[in-house]
Amino acid sequence: KQRRPLIAGNWKMNGLSQPAATELGELVRLSNEHAGPNCDILICPPATLLREMATIAKGSAVSLGGQDCHAKESGAHTGDISAEMLKDAGGDYCIVGHSERRADHGESSAVVKAKAEAALRAGLVAIVCVGETLAERDADKTLDLISSQVRNSLPEGATATTTVIAYEPVWAIGTGKTPTPDDVAVVHAHIRKELGSLINDSDKMRLLYGGSVKGSNAAELMAVANVDGALVGGASLKAADFWPIVETC
Ligand code: G3H
Repeated sequence: KQRRPLIAGNWKMNGLSQPAATELGELVRLSNEHAGPNCDILICPPATLLREMATIAKGSAVSLGGQDCHAKESGAHTGDISAEMLKDAGGDYCIVGHSERRADHGESSAVVKAKAEAALRAGLVAIVCVGETLAERDADKTLDLISSQVRNSLPEGATATTTVIAYEPVWAIGTGKTPTPDDVAVVHAHIRKELGSLINDSDKMRLLYGGSVKGSNAAELMAVANVDGALVGGASLKAADFWPIVETC
């Protein structure tokens, strides 16, 4: 692979202290046993678990991150969490613009961009999510929509070191449905091309695929050109399900 893959797990709103500690402990054990995995490994637990998970992952190949952050550093924003707080609790990455945030919280690309910029200011790597709905795909709007989300969500000054893009077709999330490898290839090539006009080191930026990735389909998806890793939801909750995805790298 031209770029070091990133296999990222997004636990979403799942996880109490137990069994989360057991599962992360198991993931750490597996990563220690297989010294030098051929990819970066990331888990984004709910923010309530971040500090505890950071203690468990300390010194291992498993990095941690947040699932969202506020665009401001601090202030009167009840219930929100800043990128600085995620960093302080042991995070190195932050997902922004996940389709569940865009849909459930009405986040526009402008909001996502501001959050991504906050993540960068705090020293976190931003994972910027983009993806079309089924209606948009059926109306043949996928590539235009992706272009617009990439152009408008990417943080100012983004580089391949500070920013990752995750392509997640909304209809593939949690449904067991995945696009064909050819369909993924078309979108990822399109994102790569779009990036060329936006940033200098576009060929180095990692582009993840997300949406119903599991052990049984990961190898096929990871083999697609311009797919540099995965953003995994359901199959990241248990180390036994997540590890086979890591092993495809
Ligand atoms: O952030 C992760 C994605 O939304 C994918 O979720 O693997 O459960 O389909 P999923």
